Amino acid sequence: GRTAGSQAGPAVLSCRVAFRGCSSPSAGPCICPCLEFDLATNLVGQPLVRQQVMKGVREFLENPNPVKPLVMSFHGSTGTGKTYVSSMLIRYLFQRGLQSPYVHHFSPIVHFPHAEQIEQYKESLKHWIQGNLTNCGRSAFLFDEMDKMHPGLIDVIIPFLGPSWVVYGTNYRKAIFIFISNAGGEQINNVTLALWRARKDREEISLQDLEPAISKAVFENPQSGFWKSGIINEHLIDFVVPFLPLKHHHVKQCVVSELVQQGLEVRPGVVQEVADSIPYFPEEEKLFSSTGCKTVASRISFFF
Ligand SMILES: Nc1ncnc2c1ncn2[C@@H]1O[C@H](COP(=O)(O)OP(=O)(O)OP(=O)(O)O)[C@@H](O)[C@H]1O
Ligand SMILES: *[C@@H]1O[C@H](CO)[C@@H](O)[C@H](O)[C@H]1NC(C)=O
Ligand SMILES: *[C@@H]1O[C@H](CO)[C@@H](O)[C@H](O)[C@H]1NC(C)=O
Ligand SMILES: [Mg+2]
Repeated sequence: GRTAGSQAGPAVLSCRVAFRGCSSPSAGPCICPCLEFDLATNLVGQPLVRQQVMKGVREFLENPNPVKPLVMSFHGSTGTGKTYVSSMLIRYLFQRGLQSPYVHHFSPIVHFPHAEQIEQYKESLKHWIQGNLTNCGRSAFLFDEMDKMHPGLIDVIIPFLGPSWVVYGTNYRKAIFIFISNAGGEQINNVTLALWRARKDREEISLQDLEPAISKAVFENPQSGFWKSGIINEHLIDFVVPFLPLKHHHVKQCVVSELVQQGLEVRPGVVQEVADSIPYFPEEEKLFSSTGCKTVASRISFFF
């Protein structure tokens, strides 16, 4: 585990510089242009993600006294960029990114593996969040793979998410919570496909087209960590962030980025071949990558 602020005094001070600016370390909205540029340049095929994340982050950072923490929930099928975007965001917000002592990353398989120990996990999780928020109100909590999270565990977080709850001795309203899951992914894919068939461009897909299906999916799925959870019922999620399935030309862009990153030559033939080697759905039209860009990096080695 990471413990924030080993010395009593400097914790608050170093906490304040945790939210870094573009050039100088400071809290405030000035990271936004940089983040927006990075998203616009490097995140492919996710107009709603860019819009929702920027809206959430901007509103939150521009407000010196938020009434509640920022709560975002990322949904989408595998390889569409959920982990990618969350680490990018964290990198802009915190010096040392995911390594920052103010960033807490929970993965159910690592942190909460045994269903029979759920009561103990609830206690630990509550104490961790409370302890870490006492050290630094500007902390971020990432809950990855929410669909593998034991239903019920998430309910202990609820007191930290709302505007009116009293959490003793902490300035919890400045925290950021990000939930990540595949839940709702199938619904997002189906809606995107249906809209494509209705000749609606993915840029025209609105949040309203997707949000009802996502909420229903995560709330009503007994496998989901959100199952019947108060988080949905009490509308504690400020920003639902849907990740659309990626098309062939997006995958090609991922291949190009990956080649550049690995310092390899960008040959059009290789880009095409790597993108072609990935499975697409539905069976007839083969429109969307079944694994997004997830396997791109590992596939490249086969072509060199
Ligand atoms: N929309 C995207 N734009 C650019 N690169 C992407 C995008 N989606 C995925 N990638 C690339 O593919 C890799 C895998 O994506 P990522 O790990 O973010 O998927 P994920 O949505 O978290 O999947 P999972 O649900 O399986 O965890 C990323 O590291 C990134 O390089
Ligand atoms: C903060 O959270 C981590 C888990 O990320 C945990 O190990 C640690 O004990 C927590 N710190 C406090 C002070 O509760
Ligand atoms: C998505 O579409 C497929 C194929 O039409 C269907 O079998 C599946 O039940 C749909 N899933 C959801 C969650 O709507
Ligand atoms: Mg992921």
